[in-house]
Amino acid sequence: MSSPAAATGTAGEAAVLAVADLRVDIALRHSTVHAVDGISFDLAPGERLGLVGESGCGKSTLGLALAGLLPSTARVSGSIRLGGKELVGAAERELRRIRGRDVGVVFQDPMTSLNPTKRIGVQVGEALRLHDGATAGEARDRAREMLELVGLPRPGEQLDRYPHELSGGMRQRVVIACALICRPTLLVADEPTTALDVTIQSQILDLFDRLRDELGMAILLVTHDMGVVAGHTDRILVMYGGREAELGPTRAVFAQPRHRYSEGLLASVIRIGAPRGTPLASIGGRPPDLAAPPAGCGFAARCAHADAACRDVAPQARVDVAPQARVDVAPQARVDVAPQARVDVAPQARVDVAHRWRCHHPASYAGDAPLVRDASSTLVEP
Ligand SMILES: Nc1ncnc2c1ncn2[C@@H]1O[C@H](COP(=O)(O)OP(=O)(O)O)[C@@H](O)[C@H]1O
Ligand code: SF4
Ligand SMILES: [Mg+2]
Repeated sequence: MSSPAAATGTAGEAAVLAVADLRVDIALRHSTVHAVDGISFDLAPGERLGLVGESGCGKSTLGLALAGLLPSTARVSGSIRLGGKELVGAAERELRRIRGRDVGVVFQDPMTSLNPTKRIGVQVGEALRLHDGATAGEARDRAREMLELVGLPRPGEQLDRYPHELSGGMRQRVVIACALICRPTLLVADEPTTALDVTIQSQILDLFDRLRDELGMAILLVTHDMGVVAGHTDRILVMYGGREAELGPTRAVFAQPRHRYSEGLLASVIRIGAPRGTPLASIGGRPPDLAAPPAGCGFAARCAHADAACRDVAPQARVDVAPQARVDVAPQARVDVAPQARVDVAPQARVDVAHRWRCHHPASYAGDAPLVRDASSTLVEP
């Protein structure tokens, strides 16, 4: 079991979203899957957080928990505060109100999110009618504006078309319009570009950035692909086996990954300057079985640096404190220290609470070559 965070991040009291020690257990017939195992982070307004990790690490379950869309077999504990409201334990009626109004959701396959029998204008305007009591005419006008904002050509004409009449990329723009029509404070996008080709993928990611600038919502971008988050997020949360491996500013995690799993993920992305034909590193083995999580570090079975301590004891959250650095704590910032955690701060040390990890033998590699997105750089899904 992992323990609460040593530091909750940078957002402090101004957070749109504050997740604390979140756990999601899914009951199966003969076992329980610990899909999310003690995750904590904050999101500031307009902040873009990339949630990365291989398939089966609990990313979608975390995204569904934030959107109030978990299956009825899921048991949730901890806290999810969205705009000050507690979602854990909220009634289904309240969750339905929050969904679509305060949180917009975009999934991988636009076809499963859209109703094939309804015209696009009606679908995009639906949430406005439901949550804001808009008339059919108002909803249609706003839907047209939204389709224009997401870059659909001739938005007026698209209102009366059906989803199958559009390309995959255009359908995903329609799904984004549906998610954002009520101007939510948080957008959860779960593998939103995985089903799209590389050119459309980068157009959709650019669109998220533009909409974030124009509408100001925070974004949780879920992906198994480190290349996708490189240019489109402010911070990265690396998840492994339902737990946090590392959380930090995107630049810091790319330049100096501290967890050995993050290091492995990054080694799978091509580096500028690498000699031609250099093979992509890939991580051997598979993520742990979340119905029987290991006692120690979940990555130990695949990690070249694992020792007995790694196998026996799950690492606590750690942050770096440089000798003679200074500690600056922002006004209203909160630092939560896990039970029995020890924080030694050297005189005049600076604690960068934004970058933390859980690893007994953290990497100290400081990359000098920038990373690039490349069509062949995605991790292979098991
Ligand atoms: N509805 C469900 N029923 C049973 N197991 C589930 C369900 N949803 C997720 N899981 C399990 O939870 C774990 C995490 O899954 P998921 O959140 O989909 O990971 P990711 O999105 O990182 O691929 C996996 O072991 C998966 O099989
Ligand atoms: S805690 Fe140990 S096994 Fe886990 S990633 Fe770090 S070095 Fe590897
Ligand atoms: Mg998923």
